[in-house]
Amino acid sequence: MKVIVANDYEDGAKKAADYIDRLVRVKPDCTLGLATGSSPVGMYRELARRCKEEGLDFSKVHSVNLDEYVGLEPTHPQSYRFFMDDNLFDHINIDKANTYVAKGTGDTEANLKEFNDILDRTDIDLQVLGVGPDGHLGFNEPGAFLYEKAHKETLEESTIDANTRFFANRDEVPRFAVTMGMGSIMKAKTLLMIINGNKQDAAKKLLMDDKIDPMCPATFMRLHRDAIVVIEKKLADEIGYTR
Ligand code: GLP
Repeated sequence: MKVIVANDYEDGAKKAADYIDRLVRVKPDCTLGLATGSSPVGMYRELARRCKEEGLDFSKVHSVNLDEYVGLEPTHPQSYRFFMDDNLFDHINIDKANTYVAKGTGDTEANLKEFNDILDRTDIDLQVLGVGPDGHLGFNEPGAFLYEKAHKETLEESTIDANTRFFANRDEVPRFAVTMGMGSIMKAKTLLMIINGNKQDAAKKLLMDDKIDPMCPATFMRLHRDAIVVIEKKLADEIGYTR
């Protein structure tokens, strides 16, 4: 696992953007696995800038997102489809028909079948990942075991707490989500994780421990052949990580 310690959030955003930039230039028709949350927002902003100012061309790129809340329409400002349009797709020259975010409303079983069918026929070149404070990847919550395929998850109380900041109040946070499984994530050719903020526990388990622990799904990163972690210096210092 390659660990990059970034000076701060913006530096991390640029360093992470460099990986996507290189991939898109070398393989213009690549498939990106994308993530939501505050961690990748800076990187998306940087990619949008490079698209406008440096000719970074997303016209042939495809994408598939990690997860979506169950119960939110794509037009809901906190849905992950809305997030992706708002933070990235509306600012780059990607064809939105080539972007996929699982459906959060309607028949969940049918939505999951569609999600899994798409994942089965898609080779993700690079999967962007954030981490939940409890170590979740996408919405793969800690547990005695993890799922291989896309499935429905019941969100942990700590996840609901962490995501309340985006909603008017805690009651409005959805209790369920559909998410790629760990198998779909691990099949991506490259994993690119951005970790910063209040993630001391997960960062410690990921970087300072040798256990692969389903109680901290982020630790599965260490099983991947081509995994990159971009961590903010402040957080690296807090957990005592030294290169
Ligand atoms: C949500 C998403 C995760 C993301 C996490 C962390 O729970 N489902 O994929 O990694 O938020 O978000 P943030 O980057 O805002 O801390």
